[in-house]
Amino acid sequence: MRTARALVVDDDPDILAVLQMRLESMGLDVSLAGSHHEAVRLLAARGFDVALFDLRMEPVNGLKLMEDAHAQHPRMPVLIMTAHGTIDNAVEAVRQGAFDYLTKPFVPEELRGKVGRALSERRWARDRTLLRAVGETLGSSGTMDRILDTIAQATVEATEAERAAVFLLEGGRLVPMASAGLGGGSLDELAEAARAVIDKKMPAMVSGQEGRMMLGAPLFVGGGAAGALMVETPIEPTAEDLELLALFSSQAAVALKNARELERLRSGALAALGRMAAQVAHELRNPLGGLKLFAEYLEHRLDQAADPEGADVARKINREIDHMTELVREITQFGRPSALRRGLTTLNGLLESCLVLAQARVKDAGIMVVQELDPSLPPVSLDHREMRKVFLNLLVNAFEAMQGGGTLTLRSRLAEPGWVEVSVEDTGPGMSEETRARMFDLFFTTKETGTGLGMPIARSVVEQHGGRLEVRSQVGRGTQIRALLPVEAP
Ligand SMILES: Nc1ncnc2c1ncn2[C@@H]1O[C@H](COP(=O)(O)OP(=O)(O)OP(=O)(O)O)[C@@H](O)[C@H]1O
Ligand SMILES: [Mg+2]
Repeated sequence: MRTARALVVDDDPDILAVLQMRLESMGLDVSLAGSHHEAVRLLAARGFDVALFDLRMEPVNGLKLMEDAHAQHPRMPVLIMTAHGTIDNAVEAVRQGAFDYLTKPFVPEELRGKVGRALSERRWARDRTLLRAVGETLGSSGTMDRILDTIAQATVEATEAERAAVFLLEGGRLVPMASAGLGGGSLDELAEAARAVIDKKMPAMVSGQEGRMMLGAPLFVGGGAAGALMVETPIEPTAEDLELLALFSSQAAVALKNARELERLRSGALAALGRMAAQVAHELRNPLGGLKLFAEYLEHRLDQAADPEGADVARKINREIDHMTELVREITQFGRPSALRRGLTTLNGLLESCLVLAQARVKDAGIMVVQELDPSLPPVSLDHREMRKVFLNLLVNAFEAMQGGGTLTLRSRLAEPGWVEVSVEDTGPGMSEETRARMFDLFFTTKETGTGLGMPIARSVVEQHGGRLEVRSQVGRGTQIRALLPVEAP
């Protein structure tokens, strides 16, 4: 276990020296402060497991300091030091939230006893009622990402955990889906511990480097462990704490199951909608074919009659019909995704040609294009006609998002072995939360002339190739869409 930290604040340097010696002999890591100001600075920088404040300090007394300290560290036990014969003050201190009081001059046994008790009663789970309440509200609906975030966030808020993360098993791999608390460091160690917890099928404690404790509980969904809720904590938890974590993770698992079912339901409804759209589109195909013939005939006639204005209108009608025909074709295909016709494709060449096409489709107002195409990519097994739709839509979306100018970056690279990654990044306005949640819904669009088919088609094609599409978007910053594709057909 990590060394417990104590903070001692007194304006008498002799007292500080005595307490430092005594507390260090108890094995504590001691910090000293001679003033309120200095104490506040130390408290802002780190947490302490116990604090000893002198009651009589000028200009701000120990009770006020305790109030300030608790504003930041609500459950840090504070011992108030008072001179002999001021027991009323001591009682008042406890009433105001002090853990206990110490009388000067110190009796070594009293000091040892009270500090020891303050340390042992400090619990890992700060607020059990909060933990339970959050667990219960998790049952409400929400998207999967949101639920996982809530789980991680709530765990950090309700416990002494420094970091919490939720891992889910995906195809045998443990993927960190959400994390909260002290960011930064790698999640590898935690992932390893998660693996151990999942293998054990029960909550467990694992010690990591530098005396860190990691504990975790598996998330049971549908009979098996679908993942684990993991936390890192500097304080050694009790068996009871572990039980609490298990309780929390079981509630999280229920929330997870609900979210999964909801997602399945939604995709079922979407599929039904897709089939209906496909039927309607199919009905439109024949009349559109007729219209196309008439329009071409009209254009031809008007050309011959030397009526350039009329011929021009006929050409416009023709173009609109082409547009509608293309749309109908796409909808029909979405209902019944056709079998892929894969061939070895030079990805960079395909990307370059899509870029040219996309640029041609939009009036680019001061958009800078940066290409970072890895020349060492191997040929990839793709249906290039299908894939073209994907890249075209991503590029057109990016251009359309930057009406006021910006930078588009098109990248290709080898991702993990056997996978290539194409990323289209723009510096546009980014997507709102609603757009992010709905962009893959059929016909969802925020554009006046959009049809809302680009993204659902892109995802369906990428998934048909055995790949996946990942979206990162930040309002005001821009959007990055990455398509990960296996080099060889799976
Ligand atoms: N790069 C992006 N930046 C901001 N928003 C985007 C971006 N890409 C997609 N979107 C949002 O997602 C919505 C859906 O995109 P999608 O490509 O499916 O349809 P669309 O572009 O509106 O129409 P179309 O079917 O013609 O492509 C867009 O309307 C837009 O709101
Ligand atoms: Mg689009």
